[in-house]
Amino acid sequence: MKIVQQLLLVAVALWLRQGGAPTVAGQCAHRCGRVPIPYPFGLEPQCVRSNEFLLNCNKTEGRGGRLLLGNYSIHKISVSDSTMVIRLPELNDCYNKSSLSVNTNNSLSIDLSPYPQYRFSANRNALTVLGCDTYAYMTNGVGRGACSPYCTRYVDLAKETTCLGLGCCQVSIPGVDTLYVRISFFNDNVKVSSFNPCGVAFVGDKELFNISSKRSDFVLDWTIGWNVTCTQAILNQSSYACGNNTDCRDFADGPGYRCFCKPGYEGNPYDRSCGCQGN
Ligand SMILES: *[C@@H]1O[C@H](CO)[C@@H](O)[C@H](O)[C@H]1NC(C)=O
Ligand SMILES: *[C@@H]1O[C@H](CO)[C@@H](O)[C@H](O)[C@H]1NC(C)=O
Ligand SMILES: *[C@@H]1O[C@H](CO)[C@@H](O)[C@H](O)[C@H]1NC(C)=O
Ligand SMILES: *[C@@H]1O[C@H](CO)[C@@H](O)[C@H](O)[C@H]1NC(C)=O
Ligand SMILES: *[C@@H]1O[C@H](CO)[C@@H](O)[C@H](O)[C@H]1NC(C)=O
Ligand SMILES: *[C@@H]1O[C@H](CO)[C@@H](O)[C@H](O)[C@H]1NC(C)=O
Ligand SMILES: *[C@@H]1O[C@H](CO)[C@@H](O)[C@H](O)[C@H]1NC(C)=O
Ligand SMILES: *[C@@H]1O[C@H](CO)[C@@H](O)[C@H](O)[C@H]1NC(C)=O
Repeated sequence: MKIVQQLLLVAVALWLRQGGAPTVAGQCAHRCGRVPIPYPFGLEPQCVRSNEFLLNCNKTEGRGGRLLLGNYSIHKISVSDSTMVIRLPELNDCYNKSSLSVNTNNSLSIDLSPYPQYRFSANRNALTVLGCDTYAYMTNGVGRGACSPYCTRYVDLAKETTCLGLGCCQVSIPGVDTLYVRISFFNDNVKVSSFNPCGVAFVGDKELFNISSKRSDFVLDWTIGWNVTCTQAILNQSSYACGNNTDCRDFADGPGYRCFCKPGYEGNPYDRSCGCQGN
């Protein structure tokens, strides 16, 4: 009896490794808290494509759990465009009437270099800086960037949801995997502290931000194979990740490839048994 069970488990595990739908096994968690976990990701070794896609669910945090990539809180995983959104805290530097820095969280570093399949999404993220007499800079393996917004009159920073110039500036973030950001102020902040006591900076989606939420959504691109191109990957059908009705595309910002449903098809392009379906 025991042996039969074990054989079954082995069979299921093998089938899953070959890209079978984890939905059928019944042993794979499909969400952590409110965040759905699609294949190739998972919480259990038998449910993921390879160990690089194993995530943690901290059940003692959040409502029903908090999905984690290392220390980073995962907000969303998308298989249709191979992205992941993580939550990062915002940086702030606040001053009181005598222009002394109080209540400061003025630096942030992000290091995804231990995870070969992730890159910062080059076209979706920016360093956004809000404030008056505030200065923020960032460095990464490739270069550096900085910006400093200006204010000529009162700006209610708490109401900003777009970066239109006054009291706000943005710098693009390249598709790299490490970043260090620091915020500070200059001019002793004398002329502004009375009406804008805080400078704020964050890295995240440049289109959608919400200054009141105190955190930002940072978009990552992930690849399914990070050391091969489509042409190389397709040669080995047993390790090739893209299912039926998909297009394979080489990743633009580094080595690796990703799968997409062909036009007119929808579903999970990484699911080899019931992925992209016609509609
Ligand atoms: C889960 O989160 C709690 C509270 O932050 C922490 O004490 C605990 O160590 C975490 N557990 C794991 C497995 O990360
Ligand atoms: C998580 O954060 C702790 C303390 O901030 C740090 O020591 C550790 O290296 C981090 N781990 C990862 C995977 O980033
Ligand atoms: C400003 O903050 C500093 C440091 O916390 C404190 O010593 C100083 O008294 C504060 N000044 C005012 C006017 O609140
Ligand atoms: C600073 O950021 C950490 C998260 O990295 C957060 O827990 C803490 O509350 C923040 N502190 C302030 C003063 O905003
Ligand atoms: C911004 O965040 C705050 C606090 O989390 C929330 O109450 C508010 O509804 C959000 N606004 C938008 C436009 O999402
Ligand atoms: C790609 O990496 C995997 C594991 O990380 C390794 O098994 C494989 O040999 C590598 N392939 C090439 C072409 O370097
Ligand atoms: C094809 O991929 C499978 C599974 O990763 C591996 O065991 C096998 O060695 C690969 N074959 C070739 C010719 O590289
Ligand atoms: C995938 O396509 C192949 C070849 O067209 C076909 O033989 C196979 O049945 C398809 N698999 C599924 C699950 O649709």
